[in-house]
Amino acid sequence: MKVYIIGAGPGDPDLITVKGARLVERCPVVLYTGSLVPEAVIARAAPGARVLDSSGMTLEQIVDVFKEAHARDEDVARVHTGDPSIFGSTAEQMRQLEALGIEYEIVPGVSSFTAAAAALGKELTLPELSQTVILTRAEGRTPMPPLEKLEDLARHRATMCLFLSVNLIRDVVAQLTPAYGEACPVVVVQRASWPDQRVVRGTLADIGDKVREARITATAMILVGEVLEAKDFANSKLYDAGFTHRFRRGTDRAS
Ligand SMILES: C[S@@+](CC[C@H](N)C(=O)[O-])C[C@H]1O[C@@H](n2cnc3c(N)ncnc32)[C@H](O)[C@@H]1O
Repeated sequence: MKVYIIGAGPGDPDLITVKGARLVERCPVVLYTGSLVPEAVIARAAPGARVLDSSGMTLEQIVDVFKEAHARDEDVARVHTGDPSIFGSTAEQMRQLEALGIEYEIVPGVSSFTAAAAALGKELTLPELSQTVILTRAEGRTPMPPLEKLEDLARHRATMCLFLSVNLIRDVVAQLTPAYGEACPVVVVQRASWPDQRVVRGTLADIGDKVREARITATAMILVGEVLEAKDFANSKLYDAGFTHRFRRGTDRAS
């Protein structure tokens, strides 16, 4: 018996991995994290499977599901949104599984930050502009570690993706503006890859008003950084004719 912690992807049911989809199809227990896991993914469960929504459960109740499945020697598909390793509350479940001696395996998924970049048709890392992506959140009811305050992370002026923060957009703007500057591009993507996906574009100067006008308060990714608008960035070395690497020799030798 094993618990498979599966990333369902950001919303489009085709964005689950083949491995994740096969596991949902064959596990006798499917425990999923509520409305952000697409119905079409859950509909893959076998006809006799026990399909449970964990959104109203406590950690203890979730662990009870694991224990019962263990007692019956039934595999569990534990389905999370996006990728389970990012703001997934999966570590506390894995800690309990380890304490119980129940085996688990993580099946990664497409995170909402990459789905948001895809929705925009953008690369988040561009030569000489930003070679770093910071995945973080604003401080709300969950306190930020002292060395990870947004003002401090902003000093790098790297591409930044903020989860769980759109309801705090005013705070985000106030904390990022001193380092990034008012003209820095910001895009908010709500429900990336869902049929009702919405995109709001602006700068740190006006994104707060635009998000309020659009009434976006949840399930949105805030992307910040020059890469979002840059046009005259340098080409990468990877496809540069003069740059050789182990998969390609210089063009002077190719003919
Ligand atoms: C609890 S976190 C889960 C993140 C998830 N593990 C991932 O990798 O995308 C929920 C937050 O992820 C973001 N999110 C999840 N799905 C999204 C989507 N389809 N579009 C935009 N943001 C999304 C939002 O910031 C939301 O508040």
